[in-house]
Amino acid sequence: MSEAPERYLADQSAVVTGASSGLGRACSVALAKRGASVAVNFYHDADGAAETVRLCEDAGGKAFPIQGDVSSEDDVKAMFAKAVETYGTVDILVANAGLQMDATFTEMTRKDWDTVIAVNLTGAFLCMQEAVRQFRRQGMRKSRALGKIIAMSSVHDVIPWAGHVNYAASKGGLSLLMKSAAQELAVEKIRVNAISPGAIATAINKSVWSDPAQMKELMKLMPYGRIGHPDDIGEAAAWMASDYADYMTGNTMVIDGGMELYPEFRDNG
Ligand code: NAI
Ligand code: BGC
Repeated sequence: MSEAPERYLADQSAVVTGASSGLGRACSVALAKRGASVAVNFYHDADGAAETVRLCEDAGGKAFPIQGDVSSEDDVKAMFAKAVETYGTVDILVANAGLQMDATFTEMTRKDWDTVIAVNLTGAFLCMQEAVRQFRRQGMRKSRALGKIIAMSSVHDVIPWAGHVNYAASKGGLSLLMKSAAQELAVEKIRVNAISPGAIATAINKSVWSDPAQMKELMKLMPYGRIGHPDDIGEAAAWMASDYADYMTGNTMVIDGGMELYPEFRDNG
């Protein structure tokens, strides 16, 4: 029989964006398993959000769904207001919402560019601003930090990605947004970090992992020999939000099965 999980996030609450699926769901459930109450943000998929809430409750935490577009300042303000009204505080933000709109360089439309930057980069910025304002309002609580922010970046904050310049630019931007905010906010004991996943099997890359030929190509980029599972990321987010990570700020945890290890150099150079 497995031991009950240590509930090191008890009496803390979290906002997780883009949490009706994939990594947002895994982060929500992992936080709930450690005792946090979770505001489960979704954009369109109310059923997916309801399933995340159910899984959080099964994990022993509290959760509720909250609709909102992270690229809308009004929606973000409303989302945080609702989270505070429901749980009294926001102690943790996982700025996870993101999307790809892929196209070759000259085929990429202005709309493809704007939408990806608006959601992946501006959306994270807006949520981080609201989180910091709320951390200040509520003051020191259950944690050694005033508040914790985790930005869901990507290996493509350092690995260039042809055919995805909007996405790579958004994640590269997110990385320096995270570091600059961390530098500015550390004096207030606000910790800001990022997770950079490699390929994790979710809706965002289903076209790749559901096709054996593309999967074979992907494995050439994956020294560890498997695609990631959302739980590989969720557990890390829970730890990063906890006091076990209290001395960590302005940093990125790369969880990628070795994708950033230049695997093509293994037998060359
Ligand atoms: P996903 O497609 O399952 O999740 C993305 C979520 O963001 C969806 O729930 C979607 O509804 C939500 N979203 C999109 N636009 C939104 C908006 N305007 N407002 C609020 N929510 C919105 O895919 P996945 O993989 O779970 O993606 C989560 C994050 O992880 C993204 O930021 C993605 O860039 C990042 N990531 C994913 C990797 C992977 O291999 N799956 C690897 C590296 C980073
Ligand atoms: C992308 C995925 C991709 C992974 C590794 C992520 O940021 O969203 O589609 O599989 O990076 O390339």
